[in-house]
Amino acid sequence: MTVRQLKLADFRNMTFTDWQPGELVNVICGQNAQGKTNLLEGLWLFTGGKSFRGSKDPELVRIGAERARLQCTFDAENRTQTAEIHIEKRRKAILNGVPVSSPSRLTGLFGGVVFSPDHLMMVKGSPEGRRRFLDAALCQVKPRYMSVYTDYVHILQQRNALLKDWFRYPDDDQLAAWNARMSAAAAEVVVARRDQVARMSGYAEEFYAGLSSGRESFSMAYEPEKGYDGKTKDEIAAMWLQAIEAARKADIGAGFSTVGPHREDLSVSVAELSARSFGSQGQQRSAVLALKMAEAAVLRDVTGERPVILLDDVMSELDETRQSYLMNHLEVWQVFITCCDPSTLTRLTDGRIFRMENGNLAEG
Ligand SMILES: Nc1ncnc2c1ncn2[C@@H]1O[C@H](COP(=O)(O)OP(=O)(O)O)[C@@H](O)[C@H]1O
Ligand SMILES: [Mg+2]
Repeated sequence: MTVRQLKLADFRNMTFTDWQPGELVNVICGQNAQGKTNLLEGLWLFTGGKSFRGSKDPELVRIGAERARLQCTFDAENRTQTAEIHIEKRRKAILNGVPVSSPSRLTGLFGGVVFSPDHLMMVKGSPEGRRRFLDAALCQVKPRYMSVYTDYVHILQQRNALLKDWFRYPDDDQLAAWNARMSAAAAEVVVARRDQVARMSGYAEEFYAGLSSGRESFSMAYEPEKGYDGKTKDEIAAMWLQAIEAARKADIGAGFSTVGPHREDLSVSVAELSARSFGSQGQQRSAVLALKMAEAAVLRDVTGERPVILLDDVMSELDETRQSYLMNHLEVWQVFITCCDPSTLTRLTDGRIFRMENGNLAEG
């Protein structure tokens, strides 16, 4: 898909912006706090997701204005479509002139992948961030995954409630029932995550190799030591039932479920070492980028449309070769890259340059 036009009114620090980006690489340059990230955030909202900065909707409305209005015209599914988002107290969406029940209905139609410096935590931080990355990617690729995942979380919460009160209300029958339901739901989650990692890993390796000019290898794996490869969903459910029953004593002692896919991890390695423990800043950044570009490639394979790629402040800590690769070798994608340092632009061979100043966007 291709974004043709984006109009933002009273969104963040922009009073009014009417932008026609280029089909391929778009670089948005400007000093700090001018509105570059705001612009990407505005585009991102059309994926139907929440702000990638974790902001609440009212914060998106320009201070002093009553509501924000966003309109995006894009080509997807062989036709030109227009989506609108209005943010007042709540967020509303309109697709091709017709109000939709919820902005999340845009998910699956408008595809996007975003890199923000906060996402470095995906590699640097705890397993939770990596699970969240996989789960969020799966929600775009397979909208049904959302309910698979929420079912699991729901079961987990109920089982935890039982464990928490165990000494007052022990109930073995109920625990056995939750064990069975939890292992079935766990298998659904695990199979989806395992398959997503399998779809992604070739792309991530290839991208990382390009970015590092073949100097470093990259690999990712979903908990290989558990040995999910080649197993059916039923076999995995049986494995989990066994593991959950074996954890009975620990779970009762802890008052919560000590094992399950909510404790698993995605391992990410660069040059055969854990990127989390041994990676340099540049390697960690490159690894997150590889994961994101792989997410985009899988989304394209599954939906048949290329998502837009939003890269916010990606250039710092990357050496010249990596910067140049990012700006010049993502040809097939419509990319939006923000940067502060004008010297970065000298590495751009083909693409459009925009400048953001105090919420005003201009080409050149
Ligand atoms: N709701 C809002 N209304 C007005 N200004 C806002 C709003 N939200 C953020 N801003 C302003 O936007 C600027 C930050 O924009 P941002 O896109 O993060 O900058 P950068 O160009 O560094 O990426 C800050 O000056 C901030 O005060
Ligand atoms: Mg910014």
